[in-house]
Amino acid sequence: MEGIMNIINNAVALLKEKGADKATIGLILGSGLGDYAETLENKRFVNYADIEGYPVSGVVGHKNRFVIGEKYGKTVIAMQGRFHYYEGYPQVMLSLGVRTMKKLGVEKLLVTNAAGGVNMNFHAGDLMLITDHINLSGSNPLIGKNLDEFGPRFPDQSNVYDKDLRAKMIELCKRRGIPMQEGVYLMMSGPCYETPAEIRMARIIGADAVGMSTIPETMCAAHCGMKVVGISLITNMAAGVLDQPLSHAEVTETAAKATVRFTALVDLILSEIF
Ligand code: HPA
Repeated sequence: MEGIMNIINNAVALLKEKGADKATIGLILGSGLGDYAETLENKRFVNYADIEGYPVSGVVGHKNRFVIGEKYGKTVIAMQGRFHYYEGYPQVMLSLGVRTMKKLGVEKLLVTNAAGGVNMNFHAGDLMLITDHINLSGSNPLIGKNLDEFGPRFPDQSNVYDKDLRAKMIELCKRRGIPMQEGVYLMMSGPCYETPAEIRMARIIGADAVGMSTIPETMCAAHCGMKVVGISLITNMAAGVLDQPLSHAEVTETAAKATVRFTALVDLILSEIF
């Protein structure tokens, strides 16, 4: 765990030089959704590769850098690309981004991802506000010695996706006429997409969307007391729903088509909710 703290401290030092210690808002931008960071004003960058010990994602569509900038008079730090469990990192490594943000002073976090639709009422292109999650990844980022400076050994998970912020999100979407699904996100380790049988199981146990990310970061954010909003972009219907194979190209294509809507939504979240 000392190693983890060293890596976090390395990141904090570099990011402070770019003014990231003024940030109160964090963004984690998922597959194909990273372009939002380009809309920040007065952008500064820190590449993950320049931070000693930081992992780098090899997934297409992930730029592997922190972007610091301003929007609506607020300082924002965004992760343009994230690391994944299926890339071989122990989940504690997936805590680095969130914990770095915490040490910089971030209080509110927007996590986003591309996900498969499990709920039969969903369609590719839908946005889903995450209400809760089911961790079937097979691990947990908080395994190992507890880092007490971040939070307790046995953290409560009854309000991981902050209830008040969720209510504000729903009110905002109604007022602005933005279609928004709500549901439970289930994580499997990947990198294989799920089998149709796994998706049937996911539906039975209460999942609405499935993906390979988000839960480790969100657990760490909740552990250290950040208020989290989670949004999934349903890029495809999950395995077995439609009679066609799944592909990463489909995921990034749907995400690219949603860029304008997604950007407008994140702008509203930053200006009106955060
Ligand atoms: N399954 C898992 N992860 C995903 C999917 C999916 O169907 N779509 C986008 N990410």
